[in-house]
This record gives sequence, C-alpha cells and structure tokens, in this order.
Amino acid sequence: MEKSNSNSNTLVSFEKVNKSFGATNALIKCSVSFEAGKIHALVGENGAGKSTLGKLILGVHSHDSGIIKVDGNEVFLSSPRDAVKHGLVGISQELSLLPDRTVVDNIAIGRETTIGPFVSSKKTLEKVLAVMEEYGLFIDPTKLVGSLSVADQQKVEILRALNTNARLIVFDEPTARLASHQADQLHDLVRSLAKSGTAVVYISHFLEEVLKISDTISLLRNGEKVRTDSTSKETKNSLIEGMTGRDVGNLFPNKPAIDPTSEVLLRVRNLTRENEFKDISFEIKKGEILGIAGLVGSGRSELAHAIYGNRAPDSGSIELYGKEFIIKDVAHSIKNGMAMVPESRRDQGLLLERSLLENTSLPYLEKFTSWIYGLNKEEEYSEVDESCKTTMIKHSGLEKEVQYLSGGNQQKVLFARAAMNKPKLLIADEPTRGVDIGAKQVIYELISQLSKVGEAVLLISSEVEEIIGVAHRTLVMSRGKVVAELKGSQITKSAIMEAAFKQD
Ligand SMILES: Nc1ncnc2c1ncn2[C@@H]1O[C@H](COP(=O)(O)OP(=O)(O)OP(=O)(O)O)[C@@H](O)[C@H]1O
Ligand SMILES: [Mg+2]
Repeated sequence: MEKSNSNSNTLVSFEKVNKSFGATNALIKCSVSFEAGKIHALVGENGAGKSTLGKLILGVHSHDSGIIKVDGNEVFLSSPRDAVKHGLVGISQELSLLPDRTVVDNIAIGRETTIGPFVSSKKTLEKVLAVMEEYGLFIDPTKLVGSLSVADQQKVEILRALNTNARLIVFDEPTARLASHQADQLHDLVRSLAKSGTAVVYISHFLEEVLKISDTISLLRNGEKVRTDSTSKETKNSLIEGMTGRDVGNLFPNKPAIDPTSEVLLRVRNLTRENEFKDISFEIKKGEILGIAGLVGSGRSELAHAIYGNRAPDSGSIELYGKEFIIKDVAHSIKNGMAMVPESRRDQGLLLERSLLENTSLPYLEKFTSWIYGLNKEEEYSEVDESCKTTMIKHSGLEKEVQYLSGGNQQKVLFARAAMNKPKLLIADEPTRGVDIGAKQVIYELISQLSKVGEAVLLISSEVEEIIGVAHRTLVMSRGKVVAELKGSQITKSAIMEAAFKQD
C-alpha cells in the first residue's frame, strides 16, 4: 500500500481554523480531520464550540482564517449550498423542518426531480421512496411533518440528508429528544451509514453513547481542541476530566430527607384531558421530589402543562397547600408559587430574538414594577444576573439575544427563569436535555436545595438515571395513565422500563 502523510480516507480536514462571533472566540486554531466510513464524536461543555465546528463543515458559518480542505483541496464554504455540493450535510441541534408541508416535500426540498423546467411530483416521490427503501426508514410521505412525533420528524431530516447523496453527515445531539429505544434505532442507522462509507460527525452530551458508538473522539474546551484519540483509549472519567478540567465527583447530591409529618403541597385528583391523560391522581408533599417516568408521548408533558395552567384539563381538580386551586392561566399559577421548565426551548420557552435579560425576567416583570416608579431595572438586572450565574450560563452580556447562545446555554436560561421565581412548586420537564455534565450537577443541586427548604418538585425525565438519582418517589406513565408508583429503592431501571412498556 502506498504511504502518504495524510490518511487517504480523509474527507474533510481543518488546519488551524479560527472562528469568532464578535468578541467570542468560538473556535481557536482548530486542526482536526474526518474520515470516510468513521464515526467521529465531538464532546465538550456547553459553549465549547462543537456546533460551531459542525456549522463550519456545513457552510452555515464561514471560517475567519486557517484552512479547510475537502478531498485534499482547499475550499471556502460560504453557504450550505456550497457544502451540499461536496456532499456535506447535517442534522441540526434544533430540527429545521417545514411543519405545514408534507414528508415528501420536506425530504425533497431543493432537490425535486424536474422534467424540463417543471417539477415532477411523481418522479420526486419515486426518488424519495427509493431512498426510504435503501435505508429501511419508512414514513408516510403524504403526512404533514407537523403531525409527526419528534422521532419521525428526525427521520425526515435524516432522509433529507440521505436524499442529497451525503458523503459526510453532522449529527448535532440527535438523541437529546429521543426515548431510549428510539436512540438505539438511530445508533443502528448511524453505524450502517458509516459502514457504507459515510463520514459521521457525532455531537453528544451522552458520554456512554459516544463511547459506544464512535471510532474517534475529539475533545473541545473553550473553543480549543484539547485532543483527538481513538475511542478505545477514552473512558467516561477521562472525557469528563478533559472537558471540565476537573473531576466532577458525584453527579447527584444526597437526597434530602423528607419530614414524615410534612404537609401535602400539591394534590391532583382525577385529572383528565381527552386523548392526552386520564384519571391522574397523586400528591406531592412539601420537600418531596416526585419523578414522572415513561416513554415520550405517554402524556407526561401534557399533564405538566395542565397543572401549570397552559392547557385546561377537561375534568378533575387540584389543591395547592390544602386549598382548592382553580387552574386559570400561567400568570395565575406563577402568582401562586409555581414555575415550570418546559421541554422544548424553541416551541414553548424562549423568544430567540429577545435578550437574555428579557427572557429570564419576562414572567415576573410585575414583581419588579411598582405603580409609582415603573420598572426597577437595576433590581431586575441584578436578580437576572444572579440567576444566570447560579445556573452557569455562558454568555457575553445580558442584553445579547438568546439566539446567539449555544444550545445547552439556551436550555439553562429556562432553568434560570424558573429559579428566579423561588418557586414553591417547580415543574421541570426534561430540564437537563442538551446540558453538559457540570451544569447537570448544578441543576440537580438546585432541585435538591428546593427540596431541602420544603418546596416540592415534579421532575419529568426520560433519563432513567436522573430519576433514580434525584427523585424520592416516581410515577410511571404509559398511554396517558399512571401505571406504577415506585418509592425509594424500588426506583430501578428495570422497574421503570417494565412499567413503561407494559401493555394493558
Ligand atoms: N451565531 C452566533 N453569534 C454569536 N455567538 C455565537 C453564535 N454561535 C455560537 N456563538 C457562541 O460561540 C460559542 C460556542 O458555541 P457553540 O454553539 O459552538 O457551542 P456548543 O459546544 O455547541 O455548546 P452546546 O453543548 O451548548 O450546544 C458560545 O459562546 C456561543 O455563545
Ligand atoms: Mg451545540
């Protein structure tokens, strides 16, 4: 075999590439290369530069200096179109589909098959079906994308990438929104893509996943590449140390003891909402952290939104602090001491074009406003600043728009906002999704602190370890009903999974 300095399978390489946004150096002198047929994972804390690296490959951003080569030739990717021409495509951290268009439209967008100047729908459909067939990924092509589950929407994004004859695919946290069995399916697909010669760039905060699936791992810290190594040389601990520069120690704080005489803070009776959840009854005591486990789509988030006043239940009632609580709207719930960290930061949580300050304080403006003096900006600023510090948000100014924060830091804004209200009842729906390990530890500590001072927490999570590590007691939901209640040492992975998958 011929020997050469660079690996002949190298598809894309970076040599001392720099990228900054204003004063933020998102990527500094980064040298790394990606090979055909290999899964190359990128790990690092929130804001380390992972998505930026991915976006440079995809032409979403262009590099400031340094060299990017594709097939050994220097290129300048000034748009995603440039990248697609080289076969470089991506599955983004936030899905970017057109919800009002059909599956086939979304997959074929920009690549419709034409006859002369006209788009041929029949040919386009045939091509899409052929791609589905080739990869064994089937979704009804006539359905509207907005009506699909998150996992299916993601498949549409993947099919769209495959439809462009991708040679390299960037997956930016593809499993953050998936249930564990869906994640397994995705892993199989990624492996088979690599086997057939595609280069895969895989960004994830799930270190077990990265260790299981990748061939190579590059570690980023503050925009710099710390190292690239073969996956077999890394362990979970070596990655954590490399990412954070320290040993994180125990991820979960000790569970605070609950005073056995403590009162019930929230009582839910027979809460029902058509087609979402049915006859849900439970209590949470002061100081208690109640987990809700179950598969995505089992009605957990819908239940949370009903309690929080986002969508009215059809029947049933709730009591707060021993008194009947009429669910009106979110403002009323907030006034009565509730706060919620919603599941999806884009759809339910953040105004991306507004500042970090506004996003954090928005629900509580009344608190900072007096009838005579108007809005007390200083007080607002200092409380927001404190909350952002506690939740370790990496930002370059409270006035900056939230859209410029990294994905994980956007997630933390939702937690910072909820924590601002010093809630008596915190409803947290997948609060650590896409958040790095150091920030996870902080979020668990904040939950534990609330419990210690006698507040109650309802924690919805698809991460079984998180439920086991944090909750005193957990309910498992399946198809809109509570199918199991587990306490203390009964909360195990197998007990949760068995209940979640149980058929009635
Ligand atoms: N369009 C942009 N404008 C301004 N700053 C940006 C922009 N995109 C990224 N940044 C900044 O660049 C840095 C790196 O962000 P990046 O999104 O690459 O992080 P990440 O490693 O993907 O983090 P996460 O795990 O949270 O997704 C962050 O400080 C971020 O705020
Ligand atoms: Mg990112």
